[in-house]
Amino acid sequence: MNKPAEGAGVRSFFSASQDREERWRELHRVAKGLAAGGQAEKLRQEAQALVTQLSPLEALCGYPGARLMAQLSERLKDGDGASLARLTQRISMSLLSNSYRDDPEAWKSDQEEDDPHIPKVLPPSIGRGQARKPYCEVLIVSPGERSTWGPMCDGIRRLRRDTDQFVVEPVVVGSFEDAVLAVLVNYNIQAVVMFDGFGYEAQAPLPDLRELVAAYMPQAAAARDGDLAMLLSRAMHAIRPELDVYLSTDRDVAKLAGADEAAGIRRVFYALEEMLELHLAILEGLQDRYETPYFDNLKKYAQRPIGTFHALPVARGKSIFKSNWIRDMGEFYGANLFLAESSATTGGLDSLLEPTGNIKVAQDKAARAFGGDRCFFVTNGTSTSNKIIHMSVCRPGDIVLIDRDCHKSHHYGLVLAGAQPYYIDAFPLTQYSMYGSLAIKPIKDALLQLKAEGKLDKVRMLVLTNCTFDGHVANVERTMLECLAIKPDLIFLWDEAWFGFARFSPFLRRRTAMGAAAKLRAMFKDPEYRKRFQESKGALPDPDKVRVRVYESDSVHKSMSCLRQGSVVVVADQDFHTVEASFKEAFFTHTSTSPNLQIIASLDVARRQMELEGYELVSRAIQLAVEMRREINQHPLISKYFKAATPAEMIPSEYRKSGFTDYGQPGWTLAKLVGALDSDEFFLDPTRITVLCGNAGMDGSQFKALLSNEYDIQINKTSRNSVLVQININNTRSDLAHLIKALADTSRAIDKRLAEGAEPAQAAFKARVKSLVEDVPDLPNFSRFHDAFRDNPKSKTAEGHMREAFYLAYEASAREYVKLNSKDVDERLKNGPEMVSAKFVIPYPPGFPIMVPGQVITQETITFMRKLDVKEIHGFNASLGLELLKPSALAELKKEATPKRERER
Ligand SMILES: Cc1ncc(COP(=O)(O)O)c(C=O)c1O
Repeated sequence: MNKPAEGAGVRSFFSASQDREERWRELHRVAKGLAAGGQAEKLRQEAQALVTQLSPLEALCGYPGARLMAQLSERLKDGDGASLARLTQRISMSLLSNSYRDDPEAWKSDQEEDDPHIPKVLPPSIGRGQARKPYCEVLIVSPGERSTWGPMCDGIRRLRRDTDQFVVEPVVVGSFEDAVLAVLVNYNIQAVVMFDGFGYEAQAPLPDLRELVAAYMPQAAAARDGDLAMLLSRAMHAIRPELDVYLSTDRDVAKLAGADEAAGIRRVFYALEEMLELHLAILEGLQDRYETPYFDNLKKYAQRPIGTFHALPVARGKSIFKSNWIRDMGEFYGANLFLAESSATTGGLDSLLEPTGNIKVAQDKAARAFGGDRCFFVTNGTSTSNKIIHMSVCRPGDIVLIDRDCHKSHHYGLVLAGAQPYYIDAFPLTQYSMYGSLAIKPIKDALLQLKAEGKLDKVRMLVLTNCTFDGHVANVERTMLECLAIKPDLIFLWDEAWFGFARFSPFLRRRTAMGAAAKLRAMFKDPEYRKRFQESKGALPDPDKVRVRVYESDSVHKSMSCLRQGSVVVVADQDFHTVEASFKEAFFTHTSTSPNLQIIASLDVARRQMELEGYELVSRAIQLAVEMRREINQHPLISKYFKAATPAEMIPSEYRKSGFTDYGQPGWTLAKLVGALDSDEFFLDPTRITVLCGNAGMDGSQFKALLSNEYDIQINKTSRNSVLVQININNTRSDLAHLIKALADTSRAIDKRLAEGAEPAQAAFKARVKSLVEDVPDLPNFSRFHDAFRDNPKSKTAEGHMREAFYLAYEASAREYVKLNSKDVDERLKNGPEMVSAKFVIPYPPGFPIMVPGQVITQETITFMRKLDVKEIHGFNASLGLELLKPSALAELKKEATPKRERER
């Protein structure tokens, strides 16, 4: 690759795989010109320049590999345009479709079809269907001369046996830098074998990618004279924790294998004596990730002739396939779905409620993949995972700090647990009618106030959403560090319903609950940290008191290949033993005794996929999202009416101290981007694209309907003047083209309408745009709990007994209604008595409660409600009016409350 222009670093990394494919296509185009007898010398030079650009990157990839690259150079030298065109077409198509992973033909040049020697160095027949052997690559880091690499690869290929489950193709590099670059750019690498004695510096440096090494491993260059194998092993795992790393050395292997610093190395071999063992170890490492214990067993179970005498008539499908009336259901879903159904926990199916067999093993593998100590499968969505966590760690009366606009499962979870929410407002993005995320300062202010009032011991947990629906990603490490400095045993629940995929991006991982928990654990153990703590004057957590207690809930179904409702709770809690029993109770409370087997199996399979190709899928999704943003904002027509909101627009500058404004920001290198990821308080997930549509004269719901009705495009959430486009691991470049075309067509239609419309129509459009973009209602902050629900109404802290309000509303005699637009509302706002909500009132959008049970209703809330023009408002029936708690019931409750609360504790 060429040295990029200043600022191209971020962009060139995010488009690296696409640039590669484009260069191959370009090479094919030039070769075709040569074959057609065009301007030979000019075209030959163009082709040569492209080969020169491609070569350093191709040296890091197994396909097309050294042999085909050498043939390509030969054809170019010979000026054989026709052969060159055939070869480049084959390579370019294979790379585009990834067919080289399945098709041995892709590895042949056009003149080799019948060469009997070639299959020896090609991947063996990869097979089809059930017999398919997944293809991957092993990176060999060798200190040997380049001339030895070819024979070494041949030797490794000769170890392949028909019984191997995977096809493993070697790629050799000669240095630390090259190895790091290879792992970053080559998605096929699944294992790394280091032969001791390699050097540090890249032999053929890629300047714009080299910068990445510096960004990832700032300490690497300083440590280059140290133990490079250990350094490289750490670097590999910092990029892709799931990679299997092996070391072949002639040092004292026994001593080395037991050393702490070698803990990340899967096996240590003595020199070259064990090549077959090494090959087998690589296959075993792959098998460990590939194995899906629950799914594998379910497939076996489905093939057995089992007689069922238990509930679930659909099991085995007989009630369906023999039916006169519902056979189409069987035909639609296929037999396996029913053959794999059972209500039994025998036959090796294990029990989700008390796993001891393959569900347990599957959960352990998921814990490894998601980076926690423990993982629990949940088959009713993250809504349930959240309630399980609330119920297992919170006791009645505990105080929980929580962002008010978090998912409703948390609010209901608090009602169930009886804990007192202390609502803290996220920063508002009033211009888009949405909230951002919860900043660290208001959380710390709340903790400090609780401390001042002597209530810190009642604080149990902090609940935060990461990332938010709209893509705000917290600085997880800093948030935890600063909160733990005030309350060292605080429990954190990070709702990562949308963010599970981030674990598999080396960029985003640092901003996940588990990524940060691992970092904090290591930090608190480090003797250096103790020194920093002593100098920090209380700004850092006390290493003798601090406990790392982190819970993550994750809708696997939202960002990975898992059936709907598949969710996990991932735990990194060093005091888990203290809540293990209550966790079990909470799990029993919320888990069906008939969990869906297919959901469990798909959780298992989603884990397998992410451990093997998560890095590739997530990297490609991020690249696509960055490209989508650029296309929208740089398109001359589309950008007149639509805009992909940039990080600068979604995150106030006070939370972006690095100055980061957009992914293709001029002057920004990758190192700077990584710096922003480390230091900024908030970062915007590139895959969640808020498309502003107010300038097109449409509100979010209208635009959503237009995309769905006219273009068959489904999108996610809407706001008053935006829709949310989410790029996932399933999205392709065709999807990108589809959306861009829809935006271009819509823009063209608006342009035409405005050009052809009379002045009143243009004025109406302008007015509509103004109303959507400028006349946006202020977002109501959380007001306060009514005094009846507060232990001490004089307290400055905001917690309240929401459960009491929730259940008080069950009494018909305690409820009353007032119509939203009635004079009564204005009268009571002015002269009282205070109106107190009996309900959670949740308008969609924005989708968070603007009233919770026990909350005093203020003018702000009423104004917002009156301006709301959405149809779906949970907890509000316009014909009845606002459901309130009667003042008399509140007065009665207040009398009884204190002794009752004391009794409950
Ligand atoms: C932040 C957040 N948490 C939890 C959930 C609930 O997840 P699930 O749909 O898996 O129950 C959602 C759903 O949209 C959400 O946005």
